[in-house]
Amino acid sequence: MLVQNKFESMCGIVAYIGSREAYPVVLKGLKRLEYRGYDSAGIAIINKGLKAYKKQGKVANLEDELVGKEMHSHICIGHTRWATHGEPSDRNAHPHLSGDSKLAIVHNGIIENYAQLKHELKNQGHIFKSDTDTEVLVHFIEEIRNSNFCSVEEALRIALKRVVGAYVILLIDQDNPDTIIAARKGSPLVIGIGKGEHFLASDASPIIEYTKEVVYVNDYELVILRADELILKNSSNEIQTPYIQKLDMELATIEKGGFDHFMLKEVFEQPQTIFDSLRGRLDASKGTLNMGGLSEYAGVLKDAKRIIIVACGTSWHAGLVAEYMIEELCRIPVEVEYASEFRYRNPVVGPGDVIIAVSQSGETADTLVAIESAKEKGAIILGICNVVGSSIARLSHAGAYTHAGPEIGVASTKAFTAQLAVLCLVGLMVAKEKGTITAQRFQHLLDELDAIPDKVTSILALNEHIKIIARKYKDARDFLFLGRGYNFPIALEGALKLKEISYIHAEGYPAAEMKHGPIALVDENLPVVFVATKDTYYEKVVSNIQEIKARKGKIIAVVTEGDQVIPGMADDVIFIPEADELVAPIISVIPLQLLSYHIGVLKGCDVDKPRNLAKSVTVE
Ligand code: AGP
Ligand code: GLU
Repeated sequence: MLVQNKFESMCGIVAYIGSREAYPVVLKGLKRLEYRGYDSAGIAIINKGLKAYKKQGKVANLEDELVGKEMHSHICIGHTRWATHGEPSDRNAHPHLSGDSKLAIVHNGIIENYAQLKHELKNQGHIFKSDTDTEVLVHFIEEIRNSNFCSVEEALRIALKRVVGAYVILLIDQDNPDTIIAARKGSPLVIGIGKGEHFLASDASPIIEYTKEVVYVNDYELVILRADELILKNSSNEIQTPYIQKLDMELATIEKGGFDHFMLKEVFEQPQTIFDSLRGRLDASKGTLNMGGLSEYAGVLKDAKRIIIVACGTSWHAGLVAEYMIEELCRIPVEVEYASEFRYRNPVVGPGDVIIAVSQSGETADTLVAIESAKEKGAIILGICNVVGSSIARLSHAGAYTHAGPEIGVASTKAFTAQLAVLCLVGLMVAKEKGTITAQRFQHLLDELDAIPDKVTSILALNEHIKIIARKYKDARDFLFLGRGYNFPIALEGALKLKEISYIHAEGYPAAEMKHGPIALVDENLPVVFVATKDTYYEKVVSNIQEIKARKGKIIAVVTEGDQVIPGMADDVIFIPEADELVAPIISVIPLQLLSYHIGVLKGCDVDKPRNLAKSVTVE
């Protein structure tokens, strides 16, 4: 099935209608969705007229602004923005109002033909207060309503026929204070059904506290929502029967549970999440591996002339590790591509190619469009996603979920290790099918994977030690992360985490490549993190450490327990348990996650919501 949301953008939408005070419900919901975007926040209520309040920055800024204000209302729509059209500012924050200030809109997505519409509306006398595409849409709806003398619902339906792009839209109308109108194409929208009340949100997290009965709105559907009535219509204005589902998510899974930050909570969840990613698939005691729906594609993978992994960011790093794993285990050529590059350089791809798309969110636009075009060209698409039912999962021919649970921290941690675990299982499945692995090695690797969760637990016990190291280096201006073989992508990931969380400039390099350029950076002020576990490359990495040491760089080394050599050379050492080199990346990344977390916190950064980022980047 082809999805429509290739140009979807991020942002969080929440709304409430019912007997409670609506504003506190929406405010709390916005906080839960804030990971989706935090350029600005805003709400609109109806109480003796329509009132909209909006503020640049995080939801807390809006909350502060509204302290002491009369916020009584039983209807409220809210928005956290991830800016696409117009800088983050109060002016560009949602909700946006129609010219007569009677309609308020919040919008997630992009109206691609907004410039043309804006031009026409300006000619008709409309005056705009923001730079957003969203404001154009609400004026467009107003224009249609006024010129056709129709209802807002009808005006919206007509407007959407001309709109190009992706959206979730919520509208409230001062003259109709008992109704919220919503529409969706591409971006996600969930309705929560309570007793005499309804909730709307971009995902279920603002809703589960109140009700577990939800309806996922489909593309091209229109929702007319009142406290005690839910009407769903398709684009031809026919009433649809809502399909009510029960949420199986628990509130605790989206709360911090005693940790200072989601990122730390998620790092500490890894023994469980890695276990969950293997559960039901791997049975080391029986020596079996079952990949569910993906097993049906074992033959296709085995015969693939090559495998192309497409992903972005941290998921791309997981893809790089998988390249090493799959080439070694299955002897199939693997290419790892940045999804954004792959899509636009007219790649040679077609029948016989297998694409593996790796994505935590399953909504990353770059990855989505890359696989859409590869699918059209006849490639088989397999998805490795964390978010169940996500667009990439739906677009793929088959796939495997990583089962890491909701990842709220914007920097990916537990999703990454779950991706590595699942990709390793894929490699093992294909190797077995293809006969490129001995029974003994297969069993050994199953045992190694099985042992990972306990090893992660023992690394987490080093948290305080890593915090001390973080304190020592937190003021460094730059960092270098080096590793070889399976640990090279981990060096890249360590550098990305540090950049994201602490805003310290960091680069990851293959340790040997360092001497071809980056070594010029090394002096007594440069911390160099070596991921130097005992593996095929160990001796070579020791030489690379010497090279840095000779130039007075500060060495922080992640090494295997029992290592007698590197500790004598390094300034700081983090010992991790021994593991087969093929699975070692799953554990060697953990100290790097903790290191960047502590440096970020010590520097006063908002580690859960690093500046300029959003949890999933759903614009190309
Ligand atoms: C991870 O820390 C990043 N914020 C980012 O690189 C992320 O991995 C990337 O945007 C891909 O996201 P996805 O896995 O949801 O597709
Ligand atoms: N395109 C809209 C804007 O820039 C909405 C972005 C979003 O989804 O947050 O305001």
